[in-house]
Amino acid sequence: MELLDQIEQHKKDIESFVAGNGDAAESFRIKYLGTKGIVKNIMQEMKHVPNDKKKEAGQLLNEFKKFTEEKYETLKAESSPLTAHSAEAIDYTLPGDDVTIGTRHPLSIVRNRIISIFNRLGFVLAEGPEIEDDWHNFTSMNMPENHTARDMQDTFYVQKNPDWLLRTHTSSVQARVMEKQKPPIRIICPGRVYRNETISARAHCFFHQVEGLYVDENVSFADLKQTLYFFVQEMFGKAVKIRFRPSYFPFTEPSAEMDIDCLICHGKGCNVCKHTGWVEILGSGMVHPNVLNNFGIDPEKYTGFAFGMGMERICQLKYRVNDLRLYSQDDVRFLKQFAGVIY
Ligand code: PHE
Repeated sequence: MELLDQIEQHKKDIESFVAGNGDAAESFRIKYLGTKGIVKNIMQEMKHVPNDKKKEAGQLLNEFKKFTEEKYETLKAESSPLTAHSAEAIDYTLPGDDVTIGTRHPLSIVRNRIISIFNRLGFVLAEGPEIEDDWHNFTSMNMPENHTARDMQDTFYVQKNPDWLLRTHTSSVQARVMEKQKPPIRIICPGRVYRNETISARAHCFFHQVEGLYVDENVSFADLKQTLYFFVQEMFGKAVKIRFRPSYFPFTEPSAEMDIDCLICHGKGCNVCKHTGWVEILGSGMVHPNVLNNFGIDPEKYTGFAFGMGMERICQLKYRVNDLRLYSQDDVRFLKQFAGVIY
């Protein structure tokens, strides 16, 4: 049978077909499996096969088609650079795959930096819970019920009576530490705080603070100033200027807010400093005697200072991040700019 002979001959040809390079598989495909290829041609022969042989011939043809397709697959695999066994099939000079290196979040960078600066002054790390009770967040901090100062911070309540809330400031950690530990106390407490505010470039419903507390005999306002002055110089450089403005916090007396000269415009006036040349970075003061008394610490014997600063603000001045929302959007284009910053 003529068809049978043809198929046998093609099979032999195919078996001895050797792949030289990537094109071999493709030229094989065109020759045998293409629209004008040999397999198609032979299929056409079916019409000349007498009826009583059609079944047998059909089987033969299908087998041949399968055989050819298998050979094509093998050729393809052999000529792919990934599976090729011959050294010349791999181009070692091609650039390697990109290795994506993770980055620290800018707030983590700033947080670690702040901790390390205060560590050098003997402040140790302290932490407290983000869900607080009324006592630790408000009452013990000299803000009894119905105290107007509570309105300064719009609070998220988790539960009323007894009150459970999301802490509005890290000052609650002062309470957590003073109820367990007696002076000397020297702590630094970074953490997330929550306030019920409309989210915008300048306000967010959560942000981060760092609280500092130093209670011992003979701690003075001069110590507070010098400590904070050291901090800003370490953080922003020796040239930075500071100023203290009288302020009010229920848990400190006297109280002061501290400004540094605007690092964005260097005093010329810009959006960040609202054209004043100064940016507020923290609240501070001498620990109120009532607060010390709340924890059984004798205010006649001990004095202390406390401060609380906004981490996002420090980050804004250090890295020019001008929209608070960027910190929590997980945008890789923002985050990857901090690659390689170790601190
Ligand atoms: N807790 C204050 C605030 O959130 C900051 C502060 C801390 C002020 C410690 C004085 C002393 O605004």
